[in-house]
Amino acid sequence: MMAVGGGVGVGGSSRSVACCAVLLAVAVLFSAPATTEAYDSLDPNGNITIKWDIMQWTPDGYVAVVTMFNYQQFRHIQAPGWQLGWTWAKKEVIWSMVGAQTTEQGDCSKFKGNTPHCCKKDPTIVDLLPGTPYNMQIANCCKAGVINTFNQDPANAASSFQISVGLAGTTNKTVKVPKNFTLKAPGPGYTCGRAMIVRPTKFFTQDGRRATQALMTWNVTCTYSQFLAQKTPTCCVSLSSFYNDTIVNCPTCSCGCQNNGTRPGSCVNENSPYLQSAIDGPGKWTGQPLVQCTSHMCPIRIHWHVKLNYKEYWRVKITITNFNYRMNYTQWNLVVQHPNFDNITQLFSFNYKPLTPYGGRISK
Ligand SMILES: *[C@@H]1O[C@H](CO)[C@@H](O)[C@H](O)[C@H]1NC(C)=O
Ligand SMILES: *[C@@H]1O[C@H](CO)[C@@H](O)[C@H](O)[C@H]1NC(C)=O
Ligand SMILES: *[C@@H]1O[C@H](CO)[C@@H](O)[C@H](O)[C@H]1NC(C)=O
Ligand SMILES: *[C@@H]1O[C@H](CO)[C@@H](O)[C@H](O)[C@H]1NC(C)=O
Ligand SMILES: *[C@@H]1O[C@H](CO)[C@@H](O)[C@H](O)[C@H]1NC(C)=O
Ligand SMILES: *[C@@H]1O[C@H](CO)[C@@H](O)[C@H](O)[C@H]1NC(C)=O
Ligand SMILES: *[C@@H]1O[C@H](CO)[C@@H](O)[C@H](O)[C@H]1NC(C)=O
Ligand SMILES: *[C@@H]1O[C@H](CO)[C@@H](O)[C@H](O)[C@H]1NC(C)=O
Repeated sequence: MMAVGGGVGVGGSSRSVACCAVLLAVAVLFSAPATTEAYDSLDPNGNITIKWDIMQWTPDGYVAVVTMFNYQQFRHIQAPGWQLGWTWAKKEVIWSMVGAQTTEQGDCSKFKGNTPHCCKKDPTIVDLLPGTPYNMQIANCCKAGVINTFNQDPANAASSFQISVGLAGTTNKTVKVPKNFTLKAPGPGYTCGRAMIVRPTKFFTQDGRRATQALMTWNVTCTYSQFLAQKTPTCCVSLSSFYNDTIVNCPTCSCGCQNNGTRPGSCVNENSPYLQSAIDGPGKWTGQPLVQCTSHMCPIRIHWHVKLNYKEYWRVKITITNFNYRMNYTQWNLVVQHPNFDNITQLFSFNYKPLTPYGGRISK
């Protein structure tokens, strides 16, 4: 199990902020705000924008570069990565791809000789893995579908692939934009809007002295909803303080219950001989968590320990423990809302960024 810790010191008068009131006021989210809309109250403008730039017309279609930008404040697309799908408007086929692939070829039996990469009406695209041969790569590809946020890792906040489409329109008047875009990350959670034809993208040369432009561009915007993603929380908070030995554990069944009768295998014990096969078993590809058996059954536990509580300031130590055997969370972040976080005076072992200038939030 991985556990990481750090400390936060918060300044300001605590006259009105008795310790327990502070603790009760804490709302902690591990990339998992609880909203029921297809938007996130902590990141209301957050979205993933998918841009298609047609770079070249071909005798029976076009070559496009498709790029996904993660414009969310703190939500990464983590391993095992994104899956992008759509429905073709006509009878298009994918002749070839660079930097990604479809999960299925589909029925290409009517093609003699040259066989397309994919003939499905509703292809599903996945990223290639790191270490893909150079002749199958393009810029921003081949990261196993992982897309970080601009906030935390701007160099890895976009993902691209190139697609050659046949049996399609060959001018900007006859080409039809694909419909019904779906983005899985890899589970549910995102809802994508309609593709909108926008002003063609301009590409500047390195010295900025010349711009070329796409022949045609369309954008699709996808937004995240926790409600669509899963109905149970993904983390819980346990509490303790310097003046009392009692640890208030995460409530039993915070994220689900150990139910050996009806759902055997819903969790795995650390010493189980089946642990390794369970890690690689069903659910690996869909990103389903495989949690260690605990009373709370959460993949993540946040422990909030009050170290000091003075009139002028208080200090807490936060420890995050990963109980999900399928995830390493190397690029983790923690979003915390607290009314005093507009006056953080000292931080240890965390990087911190307020999500809004006025809001009380902390994240790494
Ligand atoms: C922030 O904390 C310092 C003391 O640590 C205090 O002097 C100051 O008034 C506080 N500011 C706000 C806006 O609460
Ligand atoms: C998506 O996010 C970007 C960056 O925050 C923003 O400029 C854009 O307006 C957003 N798009 C939509 C459709 O909300
Ligand atoms: C299509 O191309 C013509 C020029 O060939 C251009 O005037 C027009 O704006 C383009 N339309 C779109 C939607 O890009
Ligand atoms: C859109 O895609 C979803 C999921 O792939 C599918 O269930 C639905 O029927 C599609 N709708 C249309 C109009 O193609
Ligand atoms: C389309 O998406 C790209 C990438 O996010 C963005 O730069 C561009 O402004 C968008 N165009 C429109 C018209 O929203
Ligand atoms: C510590 O907290 C527990 C639970 O709230 C309480 O029952 C106990 O009396 C407290 N002990 C002290 C020394 O305050
Ligand atoms: C489920 O089984 C585990 C070990 O096999 C046991 O520790 C736990 O108490 C059981 N839970 C329930 C709800 O029966
Ligand atoms: C997590 O990291 C460890 C050590 O680097 C590695 O052995 C393991 O395969 C990783 N697990 C996953 C699910 O990525």
